[in-house]
Amino acid sequence: MRKAFLFVVLSLFLVFKGIADEGMWLPMLIGKNLAEMQRMGFKLTAEDLYNVNGSSLKDAIVQFGGGCTGELISAEGLLITNHHCGYPEIQSHSTIENNLLANGFWAASRADELPNPGLEVKFLVRMDDVTNRVLKNLTPGMNERERLMSIQQVADSLIQLAEKEGVGYEAIIRPFYYGNQYYMFVYQVYKDVRLVGAPPDAIGKFGGDTDNWVWPRHTGDFSLFRIYADKNNNPAPYSPSNVPFKPKKFFKISMRGVKEGDFTLVYGFPGRTQQFITSHAVNLLINQSNPNKIGLRDIRLSIFKSFMDANDTIAIKYAAKHARVANAWKKWIGETMGLRRLDAVAQKQELENMFAAWAATNPELKERYGWLLPKFQNLYSELAPLSLVVDYRNEAVYGVELLSFASRFERLLSMAIDPKADKEKLIEQRENLKDYVRDFFKDFELDVDREVFAALMKAYQERVPQKLQPEFLNKFMLQSGNWRQLAGQIYSQTVFADSVRVLTLLNDIDSTSAREFLNDPIFNIYFEFEDYYRKNVQKRYFEITDSLEILYRTYVEGLMRMQPDKRFYPDANSTLRIAYGKVAGFNPRDGVVYDYYTTIDGIYEKSQQRNVPDYVPPKRLMELYQAKDFGPYAVNGTVPVAFIASNHTTGGNSGSPVLDAEGNLIGVNFDRCWESTMSDVMFDPNYCRNISLDMRYALFIIDKYAGAKNLINEMVILQ
Ligand code: ARG
Ligand code: GLU
Repeated sequence: MRKAFLFVVLSLFLVFKGIADEGMWLPMLIGKNLAEMQRMGFKLTAEDLYNVNGSSLKDAIVQFGGGCTGELISAEGLLITNHHCGYPEIQSHSTIENNLLANGFWAASRADELPNPGLEVKFLVRMDDVTNRVLKNLTPGMNERERLMSIQQVADSLIQLAEKEGVGYEAIIRPFYYGNQYYMFVYQVYKDVRLVGAPPDAIGKFGGDTDNWVWPRHTGDFSLFRIYADKNNNPAPYSPSNVPFKPKKFFKISMRGVKEGDFTLVYGFPGRTQQFITSHAVNLLINQSNPNKIGLRDIRLSIFKSFMDANDTIAIKYAAKHARVANAWKKWIGETMGLRRLDAVAQKQELENMFAAWAATNPELKERYGWLLPKFQNLYSELAPLSLVVDYRNEAVYGVELLSFASRFERLLSMAIDPKADKEKLIEQRENLKDYVRDFFKDFELDVDREVFAALMKAYQERVPQKLQPEFLNKFMLQSGNWRQLAGQIYSQTVFADSVRVLTLLNDIDSTSAREFLNDPIFNIYFEFEDYYRKNVQKRYFEITDSLEILYRTYVEGLMRMQPDKRFYPDANSTLRIAYGKVAGFNPRDGVVYDYYTTIDGIYEKSQQRNVPDYVPPKRLMELYQAKDFGPYAVNGTVPVAFIASNHTTGGNSGSPVLDAEGNLIGVNFDRCWESTMSDVMFDPNYCRNISLDMRYALFIIDKYAGAKNLINEMVILQ
């Protein structure tokens, strides 16, 4: 009896907890959540977070370089984000003689800060609900294309007006809930953003791919930049005469640290989630799409690895590629396991059964929603084989570097053989392509790619049902029977493998030189795949995904009517969101308990494991460790490094500020635990934890490791 009672209370508690932690909320509407946030410990108001008539915490946050988040930590435009977010910039300033990746970088003075052409940061000026405005011209008889055109028309005029409001303003309008609502986002974009500091890889990437997506974690995943502005504090292109930007708001950094149960808030730009997808979609994801994509990446990664282990030059050339391929691969594995453990398909079916029953309760509902689920079922069964081809196209065809390389030539080549083509456009295309070609060969190894080609073509031919394959694959197979031999022939003949020849041909591209590319075996193989895809898959695939979009619009509208008391949040779509939760460990597996924080002791421990190249900290860091020279950053004789909490985050949240109850910066978000990665589809408070760098570790590295007191001095640090 007592036990049963406890169980009920406990599960109620979990349900409540579930509601509390899940969600990526729109800052403008955060008032709806405030009472709950305050119950969890939050001390500020909704206006402190988001206020268009004064400064608020949103003014200290930027979308960094398109895919990440960053936040201001000084009155002089200093910004912190992840090391992996600043990686392309750090890499671009690195040479063999001056390798910032390996050695780290700390600008001794403002004059030493390094400009980064192409890098920009965006502040959200404001967001507006424009639903009524963009939907106002719609009429019931419109098809989807007409609907989109009508929406686009209104959107364009709203955007034009908004962009006139200030210097460097850019506006976008995004659909929410599959087009049930629309919001406009007005940003101010700064384009002079300079590299200020970065720890060496051995700190900023400590743990590498071994630890990626995994807790316990010891990565010092941060880098520092500074935003520059013109004399009026407005955005301006890079100029030596620009001055440090003065933000409306910057975060104070708290050294008070975190305890289990403390309130945390993550404020950033999550990229994409799919919480509303139906059981059919989840089934397709975990039983077809993810396993196929994982299988194809297994092949690629093991080939990369065997070459990287055997050859140091290849190890360097393929480091970033390996990391990129492995990142999504590892996430998909975690996601698939997580969704299976949750029995997500069954959970979705349960909801769908409820929906069907609800929709049958009256004729109006029946007419509007009664047909949806059978239609989903039909569309997803038709989609399955098409989506298989799409997955193989992305992972097997484009997974071969030379095939993906050849695909880049298609437009130029078709212009070159077309006598009516615009000469100027042709030259522009050609010059862009030449830059791309030079870049491509920097990190390309023919031997690696030949093996990848052989293995992926073999997998394609064996694993994709024959009726979904371009015919040539089978013919090749029957003729030769040996993919490696075939790869050997093709790779010794193809012009695409020869950078000098490719550039020479490009230099005087005309219909004759274009023919040489067009008759090339690699181009032909690329084109066979592409031709099959265009003729048999593309059109129907997009018709179905468009129809699904409409279905989801109606389905989500229905779910909201069915559960009028439930608080809904829109799927992530790279717009600014607030996620709140609590610092908490968890039980990832039977018999295993994860603590909520890690310390520098763990870096030493990991460094003692033999032969793990990802676990080699810099000597100087271990000297500080041995001497316990931790300065003011010591806590109980060690330095905290990372912590986990139950904030709902996803890709794009990297670099997001992690705030305490008073809105002070305590961490920088950089990953999720492996057991959590299913949260893009289904959140589970028992398993979903985001991983944050503890600000005290960042300060310790900046101050004690790098000696960059100049940077510490411009921050406001609360003891
Ligand atoms: N998993 C994190 C994210 O999705 C970090 C990726 C970078 N780190 C790495 N070892 N590949 O972006
Ligand atoms: N590392 C991810 C990023 O770059 C964040 C991890 C996640 O997906 O939660 O945004």
